[in-house]
Amino acid sequence: MSLAAWALDPAVTHLNHGSFGGCPRAVLSAADAIRARLEASPMRFFVRDWQPLLDAARVRVAGFLGADPACFAFVASATAGVATALAALALDLQPGDELLTTSHAYRACKNQLARLAAATGAHVVIAPIALPFDADACVAAVAVATTARTRVALLDHITSPTALRLPLERIVPPLAARGVKIVVDGAHAPGQIDLDVGVLVAAGVTYYTGNHHKWLCGPKASAFLVAAPDAAARTHPLVTSHGASATYGGPNRYHAEMDWSGTHDATAHLAVPAAIDAIAELGGGWRATRARNHALALELRFRLISALGGGAQHLLAAPADIGTMATIPLALPTGLAPLALEHQLLDAGWEVPIIDMPGGPLVRLSAHLYNHADQADALARALHGYGVRLAD
Ligand SMILES: Cc1ncc(COP(=O)(O)O)c(C=O)c1O
Repeated sequence: MSLAAWALDPAVTHLNHGSFGGCPRAVLSAADAIRARLEASPMRFFVRDWQPLLDAARVRVAGFLGADPACFAFVASATAGVATALAALALDLQPGDELLTTSHAYRACKNQLARLAAATGAHVVIAPIALPFDADACVAAVAVATTARTRVALLDHITSPTALRLPLERIVPPLAARGVKIVVDGAHAPGQIDLDVGVLVAAGVTYYTGNHHKWLCGPKASAFLVAAPDAAARTHPLVTSHGASATYGGPNRYHAEMDWSGTHDATAHLAVPAAIDAIAELGGGWRATRARNHALALELRFRLISALGGGAQHLLAAPADIGTMATIPLALPTGLAPLALEHQLLDAGWEVPIIDMPGGPLVRLSAHLYNHADQADALARALHGYGVRLAD
């Protein structure tokens, strides 16, 4: 597919859709039209039009993600979604309680867990996820790290540094059966996998947050936080809002509190339905888009490994354990740090993250509709030029 439908710079090779997404031009046009409407008549927009528009966008986006709109709130980012969920769960924590996460959790969210522990006297417990990934071993590692003191579990649906799809369908039910409150950081899941938030909530997830700006290709600063029905009433925005007064807003108190935490540009939220439509049109439907991107992620991985002279020993995960991203283990020449390599690649026209993991650096490849497999061969040549090889 041509890059022309996207706002991305054609002089750059974009292999990092996962971090910051990328918008089709049609999505930016839709967002521009909403912003123009807002700026043309701010009072009419905010006082009269905005809430019905937001409610309509909520019904559409929640429906796409399998979530109950009654328990669905727009938030600015997945980081904010995790913070909001953890703030609500903090109220029940006692010194000595345990907060469980994995060694592949997103740094900002791990930091929030550490802050919660410092504020409450709880401890963070990390379940190690080994590479190459083994789903059974991951389930076992979480089980081993769970104790009678585990109160909260923060689990990624798709891990950020390693692009692994955690087997939540096996991890969540036993944790929920023990009364553990489960926060799923699904930043990468919407649009990358066939997400059904309702199924996960029914299985015991307390909060699920995910981004709209990544694989759904919505504008930046739109994400969602779904609270399980019994958690929604106990969930408040990080910034106290008008909705804390019972006289403000409608009967859904989660919406009343979460929707308006001060004047903000809600354009990104309101344009998410346009993003869902745009990708469906460009990719021949969402099912076809996900299938094509998954196959391409596997092909990019295979081609990069082959071009660098590697083989099956460099595969870090089975096809079923990844979505539309893949990581490959690298060995960098002495003196070249992962971040320095990433910056050098940026200077040379490559957008591709080089991840600094304790076990060694990884390159993470993303596959969306504008990517093609030849990009892996070109990246292999570029990496070779920096003296980078595959890890032994
Ligand atoms: C697992 C995970 N959580 C959270 C985030 C942060 O998303 P945001 O910047 O929208 O808060 C990311 C971003 O890559 C992520 O991969």
